[in-house]
Amino acid sequence: MTTDFTGRTVVVTGGARGQGAAHTTLFAERGATVYALDLLDDLGAALQEDLTGRGLKVVYRHHDVTSESDWDALTAHLEEAHGALDVLVNNAGIVHTAEIPEENLARFERVLSVNTTGVFLGMNKCWALLSDARGAIVNVASVYGLHSNPGYVAYTASKAAVVGMTRTAAVEGAAVGIRANCVSPGTVQTQQLADEGRSYVREATPMDRGADPSEISSVVAFLASPAASFVTGVEVPVDGGFSAH
Ligand SMILES: NC(=O)c1ccc[n+]([C@@H]2O[C@H](COP(=O)([O-])OP(=O)(O)OC[C@H]3O[C@@H](n4cnc5c(N)ncnc54)[C@H](O)[C@@H]3O)[C@@H](O)[C@H]2O)c1
Repeated sequence: MTTDFTGRTVVVTGGARGQGAAHTTLFAERGATVYALDLLDDLGAALQEDLTGRGLKVVYRHHDVTSESDWDALTAHLEEAHGALDVLVNNAGIVHTAEIPEENLARFERVLSVNTTGVFLGMNKCWALLSDARGAIVNVASVYGLHSNPGYVAYTASKAAVVGMTRTAAVEGAAVGIRANCVSPGTVQTQQLADEGRSYVREATPMDRGADPSEISSVVAFLASPAASFVTGVEVPVDGGFSAH
């Protein structure tokens, strides 16, 4: 079984930097045409220029995962240009920490909107195209989908929902040829980790380091590939042993 993606079409949300840029790069290096979606147009354009300069097939698109019309425009384009979609990686996400009494509704809902509604919309809007390709969904959850620490009420709600939605997508998708799995990174050396401030997960990681984004990408690519053809509905921690505690 192969993890080659030659001739495949892949969508990566939050693809301009961090883990999303690493996923975009790996799928492109393995032969896919990759659509990297993000709000960070300068970074996205630079990534596209860098990767296309290496002869890889990467298209950056400005795309807000919370926007139904952005998803409609994307799927219309994919339908016309490719007729189907092989892989959807719902990676875009934000973090915000505040303990329950200090949290407020607007910030709570903003995290849910990007991390949860964004994943729902991606699966909802791309479902038919994925089904046509007998494709794969890989959602990016977090160890905070199943664990917690003070200040993570919004983030845990958003990521636990991703784990649950992934299982639902797997049981519904089996009938139409779609596999759906999620990865749960521990700490990864990206801007989000810097935004978080103190990282309890990093402090409790037996391997005593954060991941390089590429260490998440290789697991995402495996789950998206025919090498994982009988794997669906699972949550894979990629966390240096954090969840083994
Ligand atoms: N860094 C970590 O330690 C860590 C750990 C576990 C899970 N995660 C998850 O991994 C994923 C990737 O995060 P990262 O670590 O690469 O951080 P990051 O902040 O570098 O990347 C997140 C990307 O998502 C984009 N994004 C945010 N809102 C968006 C929106 N509405 N529409 C489109 N794009 C949007 C950002 O612009 C950014 O490019 C996220 O879902 C995050 O929650 C991160």
